[in-house]
Amino acid sequence: MEALWPELEWIQGPTLREQVTQTWIKAFERSPLDPDDLHHIPFTLLVPNCPATFMEHKRCVVHIAKAGAEAMQQFLGRALAIDLDTVIAGAILADVGKLLEYEKVDGQLRQSERGRALRHPFTGVALALECGVPDAVCHAIAAHAAEGDLVKRSTEAYIVHHADFMSFLPFKNLEK
Ligand SMILES: [Fe+2]
Repeated sequence: MEALWPELEWIQGPTLREQVTQTWIKAFERSPLDPDDLHHIPFTLLVPNCPATFMEHKRCVVHIAKAGAEAMQQFLGRALAIDLDTVIAGAILADVGKLLEYEKVDGQLRQSERGRALRHPFTGVALALECGVPDAVCHAIAAHAAEGDLVKRSTEAYIVHHADFMSFLPFKNLEK
């Protein structure tokens, strides 16, 4: 899994690092996708013919989230507690549930029935809880997308959400 996600190394806590790794392994076990697919499929079905791949987008989000959290720790750390491991783990796991949003029919990937019923923030939390991922990280997964607008996000969840959306919303301008 380290080949797909070199950023796993950034997680300081060995238990959390293992839980995050196991969550990704479990997702692949239940998905028609394999790691190589993630270097080719677009990161979202919400932008037609999106030119950025799943891994390009996801790794970018993790890098932005870490850099943002570190800047906030540097300048606001006295006033605001930020757990860097929660930010990094939350960012790495935010879209793990997307692996359950697809099915392969005649070699073509399309949205699965489960994907229509349960968007990836929900399936992501389910997978993560099965692997023992702590609630603070599951909260960041749960609240990273638009559904999270309805809950009070933690500081770490805000960072993951904004890192995700700043690397997503500009692609919506490419629509048409
Ligand atoms: Fe997402």
